[in-house]
Amino acid sequence: MTKPKVFVTRIIRDAGLDLVREFCDAEIWQDDLPPTREVLLEKVRGLDGLLCLLTDRIDGEVLDVAGPQLKVVSNHAVGFDNIVVPDATARGIPVGNTPGILTDATADLAFALLLAAARRVSEAERYLRAGKWKTWSASMLLGVDLAGKTLGLVGFGRIGRAVAKRAAGFGLRVIYFSPNATPEFGATPVSSLDELLHQSDFVSVHTPLNQSTRQMVNAEFLAKMKPNAVFVNTSRGQVVDQEALYQALTSSQIFAAALDVTDPEPLPMTSPLLTLENCLIVPHIGSASEKTRDDMARLAANNLIAGLKGERLPHCINPEVYTDNK
Ligand code: DGY
Repeated sequence: MTKPKVFVTRIIRDAGLDLVREFCDAEIWQDDLPPTREVLLEKVRGLDGLLCLLTDRIDGEVLDVAGPQLKVVSNHAVGFDNIVVPDATARGIPVGNTPGILTDATADLAFALLLAAARRVSEAERYLRAGKWKTWSASMLLGVDLAGKTLGLVGFGRIGRAVAKRAAGFGLRVIYFSPNATPEFGATPVSSLDELLHQSDFVSVHTPLNQSTRQMVNAEFLAKMKPNAVFVNTSRGQVVDQEALYQALTSSQIFAAALDVTDPEPLPMTSPLLTLENCLIVPHIGSASEKTRDDMARLAANNLIAGLKGERLPHCINPEVYTDNK
């Protein structure tokens, strides 16, 4: 029996690749960098299934070039702003993602960033490595405390709730703005984003990127934050107007920012944000633990294989493609 033809746009963990190789006739892109648009369009031609990463833009053009036999697109990420989902839905193609399994890893990183920005950890390490540490000093590298302060979560989905759970152990009061979310882990809902920004000493964003969140963190948003507040983003870089963030950080309008995600990615080394001591930036590592990446690879492979078999995907972003509710 001939195996279904698939393209995997980058090397993912063996936990997933082994499943893909067993069930499919798979081409796996070996380069460290994603395939260019041109190469992607060439590789998808005639495919039965596509396993892609958040660095690949999948839209109607890609799907049409692939052809009408394409049965499934599986994204190796929980976020799916790289995929024009309505284009897939219009063509009856189910799209899979990897929710749930990266919740703890991402919440851990959000908390690590929050603590590191509050206590100036990466700045302190740079200070030490630059040979500037001459003695213990009562006023060296002073940061801000967590205990008794308020953490405001913009978005209270899986990851937001996991951050709230961690915050309780640090003596933080947690509030959130997320219409319709049920309160959990002692967190209190607020009725507007303005209220959240006015009350919070730490603001952490946990929303997907969409039309209503794109550039949500702009000059107006930052102006409403407390002067000593810390801003954390582990969602998507395009949620933030980076020019406005730079202004807020240089004018000490807020104390510090910590970003796992930037716009664009990778962040060009010429970005003004990289000149700031009070801006900590890491390269989109929210889900980067061995177990989490194994789980993501396995789930992405299982979504792919289910789609190839004509079965419902374990995690489908556009279940409306299953018009017969199977
Ligand atoms: C996702 O899955 O959307 C993350 O951003 C990558 O870990």
